[in-house]
Amino acid sequence: MEHTAHTPLLVLIGFMGAGKSTVGRLLAMRLHCPFHDLDVEIERVHGEIPELFESYGESGFRAIEHHTMDQLLPRMRRPSVLALGGGAFLQPANRELLRQHGGVTIFLDAPWEVVLSRVRHTGEQRPLARDLDALRQLYELRRPVYLQADHIFSSAEHDPHSLLTSLVRLAEELGARHQHRATL
Ligand code: S3P
Repeated sequence: MEHTAHTPLLVLIGFMGAGKSTVGRLLAMRLHCPFHDLDVEIERVHGEIPELFESYGESGFRAIEHHTMDQLLPRMRRPSVLALGGGAFLQPANRELLRQHGGVTIFLDAPWEVVLSRVRHTGEQRPLARDLDALRQLYELRRPVYLQADHIFSSAEHDPHSLLTSLVRLAEELGARHQHRATL
């Protein structure tokens, strides 16, 4: 693909275990652009996520998450790919930040069974994945909000190859559209 400065900021959203970080990293490699993972950024500056939940509760973690997005988004080059943690898109203030920075949101939609198989043993790293009944409820509650994303892709396969091909195609289309607008 031709990589232009007009290709926008691609933001992967979705539930824990949807593949945001894995797919995001691969997508950025295919697009030859920078990749950022919001959770990695949070941990780099503030420490391990389970400890942040432990020390400040979920609301304290959400404040740190918002602050980190606020710091990161203005620094991100275009094009680039950003993977959000599963709860970030749920906060209206974060959706507003994404809008302000022209983030194009992409929901990776994984069925509950796939999510469960990927996260059921990750409770140590993911405080919200410790109680699987509560996790299921969270999945149902959040999905309608994720569906507000600009683009939606199914993320059910183990092999992300076809998903990646679709995402690269989307990035090309968005880049072309932005370039067209910029030259009008
Ligand atoms: C969370 C998801 C996690 C991490 C934190 C909270 C959530 O990220 O941000 O544990 O609320 O869904 P992943 O979606 O990358 O697991």
